[in-house]
Parts: sequence; C-alpha cells; structure tokens
Amino acid sequence: MKICRTVAECRAAVATFRRSGETVGLVPTMGFLHDGHISLVAAAKTHTDRVVVTIFVNPTQFGDAADLDAYPRDETRDLDMLSAAGVDVVLIPDVSDVYPNGDETIVETTRMANMLHGLVRPGHFRGVTTVVARLFNFVQPDVACFGEKDYQQLQVIKRMARDLAFPIDIRGVPTVREADGLAMSSRNVRLSAQDRMAAVVLSQSLDAAEQQAGAGSTIEDLRALIQTTIASEPRATLRGLDIVGATDLSDLSGALITPAAIMISVEFGGILLIDQRVVTP
Ligand code: PAF
Repeated sequence: MKICRTVAECRAAVATFRRSGETVGLVPTMGFLHDGHISLVAAAKTHTDRVVVTIFVNPTQFGDAADLDAYPRDETRDLDMLSAAGVDVVLIPDVSDVYPNGDETIVETTRMANMLHGLVRPGHFRGVTTVVARLFNFVQPDVACFGEKDYQQLQVIKRMARDLAFPIDIRGVPTVREADGLAMSSRNVRLSAQDRMAAVVLSQSLDAAEQQAGAGSTIEDLRALIQTTIASEPRATLRGLDIVGATDLSDLSGALITPAAIMISVEFGGILLIDQRVVTP
C-alpha cells in the first residue's frame, strides 16, 4: 500500500494505474476508521481495479475550532486497517495542499445544504462539498463510495457531482448492522446493557414503516407509526423524525407516491443514535 503525503504523489500513483488501463475507486474519510469505513473500501473494491482512500480531517466542515481539535486521530491504526483491507493508495494531505494559501473558492448545494441537519450545523455541508470536490479533482476516480448512514451528506454529494458534471459514479453503501439490526456506530458501546437491547427499536420502527409503505400509506401514517413504535419503548426518546423525498430531500405530505427517506434520531440515556431507510410506494 502506497502512502502519499502530497497530492502530487497521489496523482502520480493514479496515473500509473491509468496507464495500465485500470479503473480507480475513491473512499474519502476523516480517519479514526471503523467497520463502516472498511465496508466502503470493500464496496469500492467490487467496482474498480484500484482503491484510493483519503484521510483528511477537513477543517471547513467543523463549525467550532474546539470540535476540530477534539476530533480523534489514530493514523497508525488507520493505516493497518486499510492495508489489511487491501487498499492500494492512501492520501494523507496537508491542510495547505487542500486549501492553498489565498484560497477563496467554495462549493455549495445551496438548498440541500441548508435544510435538515444543515440547520443544526450551519456551513457543515458547504465544507463537505468544498473538500469532496477537491478530493475528486485530486484523484479523478471512476467511482466514489459514501455511507448511506449519513444520508443527507450522500444526497448532497450526488447533487454536487451531477450539477458540476463530475464523471464519477457516486455509490451509496448500505449501513453495516449488528445481528439484531442496530446500525453500527462508535456510540453503541456507550449504551447501558438495557439501552443496548432497547435500541433495536430504531430498526424495528423503520421495518414497520417499510412494510406499511407498500400498503398504500400516507406520509402522515408513516410518521404516526414511527412515533408509536418508538414510544412503545420506554427507554427511548424520539429526538428527530424527517420523511423527505429520497433524492432531493424535499418536504412530503399526503399519499406516498415517490420514494421517501425516513431519517430518525433517538436518544437513550444521553446517547443519540441515528438511522434511516428509503421506503417506496
Ligand atoms: O463522511 C465523512 O467522513 C466526511 O464528511 C467526508 C465525506 C470524508 C468529507 O470530509
């Protein structure tokens, strides 16, 4: 596995693959990797001959300098995991390589970045699209993989790639789950034993909504079903529930006639868990 500390080195490595007629996949990360990232690498490997992973803690997507400083880092462990996963190239660029001195260019999906999660974290998705556009230009991959768990991020990146005509196939990769259906997250280990058992209610509520969606439901029916299912678990508090158009994240109401994304966040004893599901009529 080749480790590149500059964009120029990474471009040279990718050029070698291109000369041999090989296709290239990209998995952008901010490091401190877990199984979810490795599933993105595994997905990329099924689509392309070579896989490039970037590790870059992107300052422009953090609202607060303290959050940026507190972001966990473990490069040695990350590199061991990526090497074991069969990655070809890792790019770990300097901030000055990604944001050159005097930089003044931003990329923003003006509507989709400023709704839902974007209302809670102003500027976050602008930072994500600004860095992902640059990473796309550095690596120029054929395919790029992102987790479905960060559903709004995935749709924002798809929209940016479409609008700016990046010739890149953006792939959403399904969330990795525990045996009982709970979406994997580094937060799960912080749940008490009882809360961990109760947390299955997230995926159960989405399963129930998915079943009902096929039976001619309205958006309001689906919303009520999620609310009652979560309320049936006394340890769970529903903190967020959005049901929006699956690709444009637009508000929906009335009969379900197009695919809808259901995004939920549920709290257990101070720990917030999220999950999502796309349901079709
Ligand atoms: O999902 C992430 O880890 C980041 O938002 C990404 C896509 C690597 C951009 O910095």
